[in-house]
Amino acid sequence: MHDQHRPTHWTTQRAMSKPVLYDELARDLDALLTGETDCLANAANAAAAIYHTLPDLNWAGFYFVRGDELVLGPFQGRPACSRISLGKGVCGTAAAQRRSVLVPDVEAFPGHIACDTASRSELVVPLLTADEVFAVLDLDSPIVGRFDAQDQAGCEALAAITARHVREAVSARTC
Ligand code: SME
Repeated sequence: MHDQHRPTHWTTQRAMSKPVLYDELARDLDALLTGETDCLANAANAAAAIYHTLPDLNWAGFYFVRGDELVLGPFQGRPACSRISLGKGVCGTAAAQRRSVLVPDVEAFPGHIACDTASRSELVVPLLTADEVFAVLDLDSPIVGRFDAQDQAGCEALAAITARHVREAVSARTC
């Protein structure tokens, strides 16, 4: 069960260094998801935990691979595009290339898909089974240059934790 005394406590953290913040959030997220096997419940809680803890986000959530498309999953933020073709936009590029994509300025990324006009920078991280991408974690910020290499490393750890807690359901086609 989540330890309510941990520092993140699902509120926006600005005082901690990024490495400490991501370390705390990773532990809290793992505790939050442990014991629950439902994919939707865990993806929804992961989106909420990330959105409410990391500063300066306007959108945080998941897209799941469905055939040759990404389909919108649990998220926090304004309503977003339901479907994105693999290879298109920042999310489709990350999924197709099986790698994180960090976009400091969305206006400088050809093919960026503007779901929320407030978004100015974006970080997309794949969720992986042993050999394939089954979802991506997408973070948007209203601030140009919001994400750096420390955010990428931290969010890759958060994505790996979430993947560990949802991929069995994905493999069983129950999510
Ligand atoms: N900007 C994304 C689309 C998803 S929204 O940001 C939630 C993209 O280019 O793939």
